[in-house]
Amino acid sequence: MKNFFLIVLLIVSVKVSAQKFEGLALTPPMGWNSWNTFGTDINEALVKDIANKFIELGLKDAGYEYIVLDDGWMSKERDVEGNLVADPKKFPSGMKALADYVHSKGLKFGLYNCAGEKTCAGYPGSRGSEYQDARLYASWGVDFLKYDWCNTEKINAESAYITMRDAIKTAKRPMVFSICEWGDNEPWTWAENVGHAWRVTGDIINCWDCEVGHGTWSSSGIWKIINMRKEIRKAAGPGHWNDYDMMEVGNGMTDAEDRSHFAMWCILASPLIMGNDLRITSSETIKTLANKEIVAVNQDKLGIQGFRFINENNIEVWIKPLENDEWAMTFINMNDKQISLDFDWKKHEIGDNLNNRILNVNNQNFKIRDLFNHQNLGNTATSLKSEIGAHDVLMIRLLK
Ligand code: GLA
Repeated sequence: MKNFFLIVLLIVSVKVSAQKFEGLALTPPMGWNSWNTFGTDINEALVKDIANKFIELGLKDAGYEYIVLDDGWMSKERDVEGNLVADPKKFPSGMKALADYVHSKGLKFGLYNCAGEKTCAGYPGSRGSEYQDARLYASWGVDFLKYDWCNTEKINAESAYITMRDAIKTAKRPMVFSICEWGDNEPWTWAENVGHAWRVTGDIINCWDCEVGHGTWSSSGIWKIINMRKEIRKAAGPGHWNDYDMMEVGNGMTDAEDRSHFAMWCILASPLIMGNDLRITSSETIKTLANKEIVAVNQDKLGIQGFRFINENNIEVWIKPLENDEWAMTFINMNDKQISLDFDWKKHEIGDNLNNRILNVNNQNFKIRDLFNHQNLGNTATSLKSEIGAHDVLMIRLLK
């Protein structure tokens, strides 16, 4: 009997220690990651410049917080004690000093590693060294870990990510744990208590709807990514998000396409991780990324992921319930030419069955706010009319 109680106690205590850090990412994490623009060509001067740009360009003020170094920050070998080493050529002052710099700007610092023996770019992965690596990150002041899935043949994804989660918890420094296994093992079915966000697809690329093959894998444009997963929105909520990948805003699509891309990431309650070179970015790009009225849709406290309502005349209409019975909507013109939108509220029954919310324009007259142009557009008593350019978006908030 005594042994039985001991075993129960042991199981309970293991369960208690083995949890992710709670209270983090209660709204989708916002920040910047090096990969989309720089690949492994990263260094400490770049990170400092980016941190400074967060302040100068008003991005910190708009809510962006994490600066995350992706693959390529390490030396190819661990040291004699088995510790990871920051590449001394790229990061001569070391990671602790760099994290301190980022923190001195009131921002947070993130790193990348991988559940396999090697990262995707061939640097040392964490397999077998999870606890040691987590302790090292904690000693450097890391606040965010992106954890990838290359070179993991025969490993079970859920247990690999649980091991790293437990390693972080044991290292006692709160870190947002960002799972990156490309949706291969359906993390939306098991990762709510493991990570704070999980990638839902393979890698993004800077095009509207293309797919680019790389031999064994391919990267996908914005609409390929959006359309790839069905029925996963119920998995998202405060502290656990579907991650539609780092953004390509400012990376070569038209300004209209960038606006639509950004609007969609906000409607989807995806993490908002910028992936462009903030040192040379255009004012139009910053206007999009730092638009507080649109960021507020992404950061809404309810944390409900939006959904496609209809596609009418090749206009994608998406909707997201917000706090105080307000709603956000995007009307995206998928056509290659400008169109005239004429949306008759009375002809549509809009509701979110999953969350028991009904948008009833017969009982309630909502004011309409245009979130890109920061102006009021009348109310829902009359049809919503607007000219929308090719691949551009009208994004609105319905206010009581
Ligand atoms: C994978 C990830 C990318 C990036 C690279 C780094 O492809 O999905 O986001 O981290 O690895 O090698």
